[in-house]
Amino acid sequence: MIAKIKQLLEEVETLKASNAEELEALRIKYLSKKGAINDLMADFRNVAADQKKEVGMRLNELKTKAQDRINALKEQFGNQDNTACDLDLTRSAYPVQLGTRHPLTIVKNEIIDIFSRLGFSIAEGPEIEDDWHVFSALNFAPEHPARDMQDTFFIEANPDVVLRTHTSSVQSRVMEVSQPPIRIICPGRVYRNEAISYRAHCFFHQVEALYIDKDVSFTDLKQVLLLFAKEMFGADTKIRLRPSYFPFTEPSAEMDISCNICGGKGCPFCKHTGWVEILGCGMVDPNVLELNGIDSKVYSGYALGMGIERITNLKYQVKDLRMFSENDMRFLKEFEAAY
Ligand code: DAH
Repeated sequence: MIAKIKQLLEEVETLKASNAEELEALRIKYLSKKGAINDLMADFRNVAADQKKEVGMRLNELKTKAQDRINALKEQFGNQDNTACDLDLTRSAYPVQLGTRHPLTIVKNEIIDIFSRLGFSIAEGPEIEDDWHVFSALNFAPEHPARDMQDTFFIEANPDVVLRTHTSSVQSRVMEVSQPPIRIICPGRVYRNEAISYRAHCFFHQVEALYIDKDVSFTDLKQVLLLFAKEMFGADTKIRLRPSYFPFTEPSAEMDISCNICGGKGCPFCKHTGWVEILGCGMVDPNVLELNGIDSKVYSGYALGMGIERITNLKYQVKDLRMFSENDMRFLKEFEAAY
């Protein structure tokens, strides 16, 4: 028995395996229920009483050494082995949670896209503006009541500094540094001192368009408006122009489109009129051209301005303006399918 134990001890101490399968075979050979060591344990009861102590000690030593050796080898392959089990390289990757574009960005990009195809380029200006660019250069006289049309945020310490109330301010910024032909669109955020509700907010977004060249006429404006409406809301869309007033355009108009929610039949959204207003426009007032250094005897132009929220409401029927700035994931995720 002792000789057998010795022999096994020698074997065990030099055990080698070159992969996990070989190691498992060794474990079975030596340490499993039917393994060599257990066989010896079973024979233990036949050992003579005076030898039991020594044989017992040696048997235990053998078992521990075998276990230690197998464990040591396991560590070598263990890691490789686990990796192989956990990693399924054929599996498809975890889906990456993609963000979505904000609905206002989606619509702004669509507006930019339409006007870009007509040759307009983008111009930008500051949101913190001065009185000149927001009002004076656009023909608002100092005491002109039209200044009240837009509830302006003034900076108390310096009433000359305002948060722009419309992106028309970018018109004058561009005109003062360039000569016609000018063909720009100006997307951006604007601010007005309004109580926040489902239909008004203290900030919102506009896109302004300005075209100045020789012989620009109201017909050109009307054509661009019709094309824009059809591109934005579908080929069946009709437009209607109503006379209006803005200090910086003469004549001025507001444009309605046939309600794209009820198709013009009448619904709560269009207040059962079949039409919804979407923008203001007109021929640039000659005074505005002169105030900004452009010869009104040589050049004429048109301008238009629209609210991006309004267009987005029409396209996606968002009923509460506040949704646009609340960052509610449930709302934003609805636009995953848009681009
Ligand atoms: N700036 C005007 C507003 O905020 C919108 C507008 C109307 C812009 C007529 C224009 C225009 O360029 O011609 O209400």
